[in-house]
Amino acid sequence: MATAGGGSRETFSSKLGFTLAAVGSAVGLGNMWRFSYMAAENGGAAFVMLYILMTALVGLPVMLAEMTIGRGARNSPIKALAHFGGTAWQPLGLLFVAAGVIILSYYAVIAGWTARYAVEGVVFGFLDPSKSADYFTQIASGPQAAMWHVAVMIVASSIVVGGIRGGIERVSLILMPVLALLIVGLAIYASTLSGAGEGYTYYFSTDFKSILKAEVLQDAAGQAFFSLSLGMGAILTYSSYLSRDHHLPNESLMIAVSDFGVAFMAGMVIFPILFAFGLQNQVSGSTLGTLFITLPSAFAHMGGAGRIIGSLFFIALLVGAITSMISLLEVVVSSVIDTLKWPRKRAVVVAAVCITLFGLPAAFDINILGLMDQIGGNVMLVFGGLMLSLFVGWAMPDAIDEVSAGTSGIKWFFLWRGLLRFVVPAVLLFVMYFLIVGTVNMIGNMFGS
Ligand code: PHE
Repeated sequence: MATAGGGSRETFSSKLGFTLAAVGSAVGLGNMWRFSYMAAENGGAAFVMLYILMTALVGLPVMLAEMTIGRGARNSPIKALAHFGGTAWQPLGLLFVAAGVIILSYYAVIAGWTARYAVEGVVFGFLDPSKSADYFTQIASGPQAAMWHVAVMIVASSIVVGGIRGGIERVSLILMPVLALLIVGLAIYASTLSGAGEGYTYYFSTDFKSILKAEVLQDAAGQAFFSLSLGMGAILTYSSYLSRDHHLPNESLMIAVSDFGVAFMAGMVIFPILFAFGLQNQVSGSTLGTLFITLPSAFAHMGGAGRIIGSLFFIALLVGAITSMISLLEVVVSSVIDTLKWPRKRAVVVAAVCITLFGLPAAFDINILGLMDQIGGNVMLVFGGLMLSLFVGWAMPDAIDEVSAGTSGIKWFFLWRGLLRFVVPAVLLFVMYFLIVGTVNMIGNMFGS
């Protein structure tokens, strides 16, 4: 089949470049902000096992589906879906672009707080613990939050302007190893604290009863999609810059394992620190609270070392956030380039300005941020995953040929297709139901009171 994108489309220059860029997309605020918190709240190691099961049965097949579509069509989501499925599937591509806009616009607000904590940690150290909560409330919403939101959007845009090789690949090749070193170093440091043992015990305490609830299944599925950057075309878009000699199953496994590795290690950093300073009871009802209130107070308790450790922690978080932001922005930018035929620079500037403006309400009101996360980061991703599985499972005639390119002798691709046809849609439909009920309640609570 002729390639829709034409022969001139840029490609990643190396296998490692693509892998690290995709891992960069996957590893982000989701790993450190949601994963360890969810595990601790929802049955510890039992949740971790459920999450691994969800990743293997649902996440990996959908990731492979996105890669197959992207590489096969060599085009951004709207055109790639039309390439294999006809124009009827174009609206799904448009929905992906919309999800990219929604997710990036609130994600950048959180990345902005992170940047502020990283910079202030280096310059001033961390505040007196009794003030952390007030401080967070003060900086989380308002003109200053908006300012940092704009700043991180400028950083992300200046990377994406460089294109795939000169921007995204180059930055990922440097930043991802830095992130890995930081997180491993921090986990080693955390293990030396007295009280670390109790932190691990809390993290790994296993309670199988607590995962037998629909909400937990929904959390595990939502988290898997968000954390692996699935369901909105980010992996699809990166894969559109791949040549056909890449071994897609190996790539998807590398990405999923690295993403899980970082999420797991983040817990190995966070829990020992919280327990060492007796802050475990402040693992608040809000996932953001743990990250931006409780941890900074632990860093303040540590004194001089805390300033270094805390700054390194927020720098690692910022690196993860920026490499995820560029993948979100690239979904929007590449779609604009491919559909409107704009030059990259214009596409980046216009997309970034629109997204920054769209994110302002989230920078001024944390409830709006929460709602955008629920709709963009949960509902739209699970829905996107559902549609992708139906697309590749039922509508795309040459899926097995496409996925096989670059591999030899793999006999189990029919199993992959079987999962996409039956298992993935069944699980995601179930999850969708609870997500919609949850979202309706959330909106009711916001506007009803
Ligand atoms: N995977 C990123 C994270 O864990 C977020 C993300 C979602 C990025 C969807 C791209 C697409 O932080």
